[in-house]
Amino acid sequence: MIEFQAVTKRFDDGTVAVDELTLSVQAGTITVFVGPSGCGKTTSLRMVNRMVEPTGGTILVNGKDIRDSDPALLRRGIGYVIQQAGLFPHRSVLDNIATVPLLSGWTRRKARARAAELLETVGLPVELGKRYPAQLSGGQQQRVGVARALAADPPVLLMDEPFSAVDPVVREGLQDELLRLQAELDKTIVFVTHDIDEAVRIGEKIAVFRQGGVLAQYATPAELLTRPANDFVANFVGKDRGYRGLSFVEDGELDVRSVDTVQVGARRQAGTGWTLALDADNHPRGWLPPESIADGQVAESSLVPGGSLHVRGTALRGALDAALSSPAGLGVVVDEGGGYTGVVTAQQVLDLLEHRREQETGRV
Ligand SMILES: Nc1ncnc2c1ncn2[C@@H]1O[C@H](COP(=O)(O)OP(=O)(O)OP(=O)(O)O)[C@@H](O)[C@H]1O
Ligand SMILES: [Mg+2]
Repeated sequence: MIEFQAVTKRFDDGTVAVDELTLSVQAGTITVFVGPSGCGKTTSLRMVNRMVEPTGGTILVNGKDIRDSDPALLRRGIGYVIQQAGLFPHRSVLDNIATVPLLSGWTRRKARARAAELLETVGLPVELGKRYPAQLSGGQQQRVGVARALAADPPVLLMDEPFSAVDPVVREGLQDELLRLQAELDKTIVFVTHDIDEAVRIGEKIAVFRQGGVLAQYATPAELLTRPANDFVANFVGKDRGYRGLSFVEDGELDVRSVDTVQVGARRQAGTGWTLALDADNHPRGWLPPESIADGQVAESSLVPGGSLHVRGTALRGALDAALSSPAGLGVVVDEGGGYTGVVTAQQVLDLLEHRREQETGRV
């Protein structure tokens, strides 16, 4: 879909920002460019919509050499989102979003109707359309930026550190929203970030750049974490990569055990071990410690808060985290509806990993 063939950018002062970049971005996927400051991420991105012209090599979009496209027309098929949204401060939110449709000759009425629709798509109430960008929170502005980039329904979306100006919690929300949108809209997205965690969270493929505009590795998040191509990538993906790699390991054969349970409000027998309290819908509420032996009704207030929950069918990282964060050392496993199905220990997760490693290396 987007094909970089030995693309180089050398600026007039001799700076080589991108050095012989060859990679192809698959249609309908999110590809992330990540790397330290100054390694050529923005330059690579801006060459795709001809805001920067390469000094060597070729870029194809949909099989077509972009040099054969008129830059203005090319950009209509390529949405562009930047840090701090880059909204026009003196235009209302609705008119910001309608920018490209208006440029393409839509009537004002049709463009505004489309803009209102897009507000909803990015999860904002339509009433915000009348406000000016300064009257929105940072996270809301970013959403408007995404809506504006989507307005002409471009097949390609370029996003340059779109979420880096918002705090980590809002940022996670925006990442989730982007993943949800992508599942619905099926765009080809190139997303630039400094942040390897963000890259791993949203990228189907990740290109790691290093100083001098050199591509250090182009791989799936799981490959990057488990098989970094060189020391630079290993360092860049960080110390916790082993643990974070568990995000990509399925919980398939993980055995779930049972533990004593009791319903909140019910009477509890004395003298048992850790007991998991459930509500009437079978949702975990917390733990009763072994030493709380007095017979009597189980009150919500007497429960020790539980750890994180592991949803069956999701990655092993969640199972290990559930076990490590549980006061009982027993990670609570729930089904998709949040209902209790069993518990796991950290040891079980480790044993499963060890078992798989043995199978992979053929030492069964
Ligand atoms: N117009 C320009 N003239 C000369 N050098 C430039 C120009 N624009 C960018 N550069 C240089 O090219 C290199 C790559 O810049 P680029 O903006 O692509 O990096 P980046 O990876 O996006 O960095 P950051 O993470 O800080 O945004 C840097 O060394 C930068 O100084
Ligand atoms: Mg940049």
